Amino acid sequence: MPAPRIDLYSDTNTKPTPPMRQAMAEAEVGDEQNFEDPTVNKLCAMTAALLGQEAAVFLPSGTMCNQIAFRVHCQPGDEIILDYTAHPINAEAGGPPAIALAQTRAIHTELGIFTADQVREAIRPPRRHVPRSRVLSIENTTNAGGGTIWPIEDIAAVTAVAREHGMANHMDGARLMNAVVESGTSAQEYGKHFDSLWLDLSKGLGCPVGGVLAGSADFIDQAWRFKQQMGGAMRQAGIIAAAGVYALENNVARLAEDHENARAFSRTIAQIPGIKLIFDRCETNLVFFDVSDTGMDAATVSDKLLAHDVRIGAMGPYRMRAVTHLDIDAGQLEEAADALRKVVS
Ligand SMILES: Cc1ncc(COP(=O)(O)O)c(C=O)c1O
Repeated sequence: MPAPRIDLYSDTNTKPTPPMRQAMAEAEVGDEQNFEDPTVNKLCAMTAALLGQEAAVFLPSGTMCNQIAFRVHCQPGDEIILDYTAHPINAEAGGPPAIALAQTRAIHTELGIFTADQVREAIRPPRRHVPRSRVLSIENTTNAGGGTIWPIEDIAAVTAVAREHGMANHMDGARLMNAVVESGTSAQEYGKHFDSLWLDLSKGLGCPVGGVLAGSADFIDQAWRFKQQMGGAMRQAGIIAAAGVYALENNVARLAEDHENARAFSRTIAQIPGIKLIFDRCETNLVFFDVSDTGMDAATVSDKLLAHDVRIGAMGPYRMRAVTHLDIDAGQLEEAADALRKVVS
């Protein structure tokens, strides 16, 4: 079945644009496993510099960035502290216990942003019979927290607590560049607080595939071992890395448009009877809303929207999420809001 014309399901649904495809077609390539692919090397160097880290490794997905980072940081029986909505807990097929042999400990928050006191409470005392608290992991922006940006002072506070307890700090940067563009805080400034962090190329940045994980040279050496072990090492991967280089050079500043579009869309749909915005603020490109007052559940609204060539995902019984991105303009969002109005009225 072809994708709907107006696809607000996810920013992962962006398609490479003609100039991005051109850059891919013209990429210089080599054997990535042997560090002989100049385009992959360039992408890794650019990302390491952007995030203020010594080194970086190109991986097939953001999920693999999280999983390999945890695998490097953890010993069997360790514990990773994250928000209860965090991607590794909910959408990585049980990766932390399966791959890092580590369990997760969830902090409950509304926006995916916890406090230093909550981290202190979550950290285990150093006793033989309890798991060892080993990694603190945060998502910036928070996905299920409405695309909310972690304030840099809060990051400094929570990561300082983790560090005091000998833990590693990890950032899931699936939408880090959205946070950077909107907050004006540089990626390097965020990066200072983390032992490992990554950014996704295949979301708002518009690439077809890939994530780049960064950290110290020693951390990346170890990450490479696990990349190899999991079969994630590639050959002439410059073809796809070229999309990443293109995206970092051309698609970052424009994320601000996605944020403006999301805010305009949220204002419009807030006027539709039966639609309630879930979060007070729409800071970046995610708009969550509740449809319980329409008399329909989210799956029904989502199905009915498809008949209007619009896709908005059901994220719970009554919760829906619309995501703005590179392939969506303001006019299409007006059409999507009209379709939603018709479906629920
Ligand atoms: C917050 C967050 N982390 C990680 C991921 C995983 O990224 P990928 O789809 O590249 O594996 C996603 C994807 O939706 C995400 O939203």
